[in-house]
Amino acid sequence: LGNGLANTPQMGWNSWNFFGCDIDEKVIKETADALISTGLANLGYTYVNIDDCWSMPSRDSDGQLVPDPKTFPSGIKALADYVHSEGLKLGIYSDAGDFTCQKRPGSLKHEYDDAALFASWGVDYLKYDNCFNLGIEPEERYPPMRDAINATGHTIFYSLCEWGVNDPALWAGKIGNSWRTTNDINDSWASMTEIVDINDNWAAYAGPGGWNDPDMLEVGNGGMTYQEYRAHFSIWALMKSPLLIGCDVRNMNAETFEILSNEEVIAVNQDPLGVQGRKVLAYGPDGCYQIWAGPLSGQRLVVALWNRCSKTATITAKWPSLGLESSFIVSVRDLWKHEFVSQNSKSSFSAQVDAHACEMYIFTPTMETRSAT
Ligand code: GLA
Repeated sequence: LGNGLANTPQMGWNSWNFFGCDIDEKVIKETADALISTGLANLGYTYVNIDDCWSMPSRDSDGQLVPDPKTFPSGIKALADYVHSEGLKLGIYSDAGDFTCQKRPGSLKHEYDDAALFASWGVDYLKYDNCFNLGIEPEERYPPMRDAINATGHTIFYSLCEWGVNDPALWAGKIGNSWRTTNDINDSWASMTEIVDINDNWAAYAGPGGWNDPDMLEVGNGGMTYQEYRAHFSIWALMKSPLLIGCDVRNMNAETFEILSNEEVIAVNQDPLGVQGRKVLAYGPDGCYQIWAGPLSGQRLVVALWNRCSKTATITAKWPSLGLESSFIVSVRDLWKHEFVSQNSKSSFSAQVDAHACEMYIFTPTMETRSAT
């Protein structure tokens, strides 16, 4: 969407994956504080996004949405002011249907009122869900909210949450800044890997202004191992996915923080070229030795060697599978070890990769072997 936002994938936090409906203004404020105090905000995680359950079950007598006075007694405007005072941005949630997924009022046919209300609160981001949609196609239900946001004169990031219905990559680029390509993630290896493979199909459609959204991060929520979470984060970054933290950042352990704060991996996600990396090769048992790669600015490549098998294996990336000239000599930087592991790789690069681990590198071609003559 040409609204000047999403030149790189959005980064921030969202309440749903960890808190579900158990949210209130205290949690949102403390999360904003924690993003600042941990340094995550400085690394780019600036959207603080409230998901479902912030509003009362019905509109007021004027037909307006009302924040639940028990959980958000100060109202959303005050929360936006608080978050803004820390240099962060506030996101809110509604639904392109009669109700949200948790049965709060939806915005279908109330687009102009609700967009104006969100804008008057100073909201910076809208996640727009797909429940209770009356069987109307998403292509019809999502543009009115874009137009309503536009009419407010405020710039609001527009995140479509249509669960991949009707292949949004094919039509959502003119409607929103990101679109969900899949059903909801859950905090498991099976869900995460399934979602990755679906999202990969739409790589060609992502770019500055509009991104494929394979759903929010589960890193830190406890259902995957350290290596699995590292793989989750690495591939989300490589796929130019939104990096929306989904854990309780007030209580992260050191491993969770190490993953979410890896500046070199974040830089891959935020690379200005904005090309979604892809699975370029899957081989071995059930194709579980995988090479994922994509171009970065400055003639560089991001390359991930991902072992989706249950035993340690050596995975080899050969230059032609990466689209590299066979004559190139390449320096290889390991983004998890934070060091160069080779200065002069020729024709291929191999690494031993633990079960479910994903090693991630930047390849920089330094010269051609032939140029010596
Ligand atoms: C849907 C969305 C989720 C979350 C919940 C909230 O399932 O896909 O991301 O917003 O609704 O009810």
